[in-house]
Amino acid sequence: MSDHIGTLVIFGAGGDLTQRLLLPGLGQLLESSRGYAVKLLGVGFDPMTDGEWRQRVTSSFAAGGAKGALSRSVAAKAEYLQADVTKPDDLRRILQAVSGVPALYFALPPTITIAACAALGKVELPRGTVLGLEKPFGTDLRSAQALNRQLIRLVPEKQIHRVDHFLGKSTVLNLLGLRFANRIFEQVWSAEHVERVDVTFDETLALEGRAGYYDKAGALIDMIQSHLLLVMAIVAMEPPSSLDTEDLRGSMAQVLRATRVWNGDAAAASRRARYGAGTIDGRKLPAYDKEPGVDPALGTETLAEVTVGIENWRWASVPFHLRSGKALATKRQEIVITLKDVPHRPFGLTGKPGPAQLRIGLNPDAIELDLNINGEGDPFSLDRVTLQTEFAAGELGPYGEVLHGLLSDDATLSVRADAVEECWRIVGPVLTAWRKNAVPLDGYRAGSTGPTSWR
Ligand code: BG6
Repeated sequence: MSDHIGTLVIFGAGGDLTQRLLLPGLGQLLESSRGYAVKLLGVGFDPMTDGEWRQRVTSSFAAGGAKGALSRSVAAKAEYLQADVTKPDDLRRILQAVSGVPALYFALPPTITIAACAALGKVELPRGTVLGLEKPFGTDLRSAQALNRQLIRLVPEKQIHRVDHFLGKSTVLNLLGLRFANRIFEQVWSAEHVERVDVTFDETLALEGRAGYYDKAGALIDMIQSHLLLVMAIVAMEPPSSLDTEDLRGSMAQVLRATRVWNGDAAAASRRARYGAGTIDGRKLPAYDKEPGVDPALGTETLAEVTVGIENWRWASVPFHLRSGKALATKRQEIVITLKDVPHRPFGLTGKPGPAQLRIGLNPDAIELDLNINGEGDPFSLDRVTLQTEFAAGELGPYGEVLHGLLSDDATLSVRADAVEECWRIVGPVLTAWRKNAVPLDGYRAGSTGPTSWR
């Protein structure tokens, strides 16, 4: 790893994201072959002593399995500053406490990130400063555009890391090898052979105490606007000539630019629902609108489905179904590519096992290819078989991978300004249709597969 970054500054150090994801990811990175001694500076609105912060860091590192000498030393030297990051004077004080080139990581709600970036405009940033911004990036297309304009005044685009940890998931990265190192798949990867593509991320987790953030986002913004559209972009993009930052991100942005809600009819192309009380794995859950901190009047959805089309030569007429929801019966987290049926089956072959499918599991990381072959007993009847293998896990988890990109100032796995705006543009008509109540908010029992009317 390059030793480009001297200090990792985490804004929002006391928050849930820092504790549950960022610090365990950092610990994992420190333990890996790519780890190096970075200074860790936590910044938060609430008071905390250095000792308390070090304890938090140590226990979050341990939660991610990091207890080695390097993580112990980084934790022991970690510092904490109480500050209001929307105030230029406080930002100056923070920058005085860094050693070497800083990476500023905004683990903050979007509105505070926007205010902090405006305040950073009044402060002189050390040369080379890298900025890391969590999703959601802005709150709609206009605010994302405004934030992009503000960021580019602060540092060059290649130093801006719009973080999406799905791009750090090893299966998403494995898609590159699968698609571009095998003639067998790329040959059928088009409207000529593909019937439909489903990108699904069903979770059994419910709100998990995140009402403050989630109730204003909902499943569409939390998952589809960012993670699932980016996964779709990797599935559908044209082959980049290299995996250089601009080649890869250019191919992703190009396919997103061609993406629109199906038939331009956002109401017909989307569905939304919210979970009611139920039980998952023996765990009783209250209805979403009874969860502490939820404002039922916001009508926030916990399950969203959107169908989009990609208007280019390769994909015209193929629907891409994106779906994500919480408190569902099973963790179905996969990309399914359903092939068209064969144009003609020789007379005499019986049975109709359905079209071949390629399933790429995001959790567990696996690939399954369903094929129709001649049956065991009767050689002229067709049977279904599945070829299955697991993807090797990467050395780092998604947040370790994302932080590695940030600390080595390599923006390949972060989202480029135009791509993030395209993602907001794509979901914009759906958000408008939902606000006008042109799509009903259906209900489903927590622990079920979704509304019964959707089956
Ligand atoms: C986060 C969302 O970005 O991704 C969460 O805010 C979601 O709501 C999570 O649960 C899913 O990702 P992972 O990697 O934790 O399965």
